[in-house]
Amino acid sequence: MTEGSITILGIESSCDDTSAAVTRNNKLLSNITANQEIHKQFGGVVPELASRAHQQNVIPVIDAAIKKAGIHLSDLNAIAFTRGPGLLGSLLVGTSFAKSMALSLNLPLIEVNHMQGHILAHFIETENEQHQSPSFPFICLTVSGGHTQLVVVKNYFEMEVIGETLDDAAGEAFDKVAKIMGLPYPGGPLVDKHASTGNPKAFSFPKSKLAGLNYSFSGLKTAFLYFINDKQKTDSNFVTNNLNDICASIQYTIIEILTHKLVEASQITGIKNIAIAGGVSANKGLRTRLEEIKTNHNWNVFIPKFEYCTDNAAMIAITGYFKYLKNDFTDQKITPVARYNF
Ligand code: KG4
Ligand code: ZN
Repeated sequence: MTEGSITILGIESSCDDTSAAVTRNNKLLSNITANQEIHKQFGGVVPELASRAHQQNVIPVIDAAIKKAGIHLSDLNAIAFTRGPGLLGSLLVGTSFAKSMALSLNLPLIEVNHMQGHILAHFIETENEQHQSPSFPFICLTVSGGHTQLVVVKNYFEMEVIGETLDDAAGEAFDKVAKIMGLPYPGGPLVDKHASTGNPKAFSFPKSKLAGLNYSFSGLKTAFLYFINDKQKTDSNFVTNNLNDICASIQYTIIEILTHKLVEASQITGIKNIAIAGGVSANKGLRTRLEEIKTNHNWNVFIPKFEYCTDNAAMIAITGYFKYLKNDFTDQKITPVARYNF
């Protein structure tokens, strides 16, 4: 081990991805994720099946992350794990494993807020690669399957939510419209794929008129359901015949809703460093749209690498590293939490 370096094992198990990663200081050495295919047939994550799959995956995934990093367990300085928010049964697997491992190796334990992890993924660096992290303060639009938040990030630890969804998350909106079209879970990446060759102006959908910085997506989902049902009355193959255009149009609407409030948030706060994070930040339409509008608003835009958008343990390990530097450790009494504010 290099003198003076801090090596952290991160463990993520908040939803349906079991992931383990190793960082040395702010550099990523390995990041291994096992996705759970089992949920596809049910059209959404089944919590009980997710916990069982985590139990099966956790040891092989950690083992693979340690091997890929080329380190020994004795090189570790601490173990970081996702405490919440997420599915309690899923979180319990990662938390229990992290606790036992820390106890047996006599290592400090670091608990991590999953949403903070999504945001701090912007600070992950790799050897021999140029990387530009956002400077503080920045606004992060955190868009995942469970959250849609506008966060003012003041430093690694101080984060203020200035807007969030009052009902469905953006990822949920993607997944639900996909389900209505008969696409498997998770639908977001499939809508993205079909949208790339469709016409975003082919169909128009209502945008919620909520004042302020909060979001609402449940009305859009209902409007989409009525739209599809209505069209299918006269054309039973409407979805199949128009899949790319429907996907492009609904994706365009979701992106317009997301970016409209992001512009407002930037105007209100005067902050021009803009980042995105979470599963939906992998969306190509959203990434392109931000690059398009950034010059109009004089923004510095930060878009994470694809592998750090959806759930991963690299973001947990890097957050663990920053917490390690300020001696922010937890003890063996720690329990996971389904809800977890900053
Ligand atoms: O951050 P994440 O992996 O898990 C949560 O913490 O929720 O986000 C998962 C969500 C799912 O709703 C998935 O459909 C969505 O992110 N997602 C996408 C894309 N990739 C993942 N949504 C739109 N376009 C994508 N390319
Ligand atoms: Zn997530």
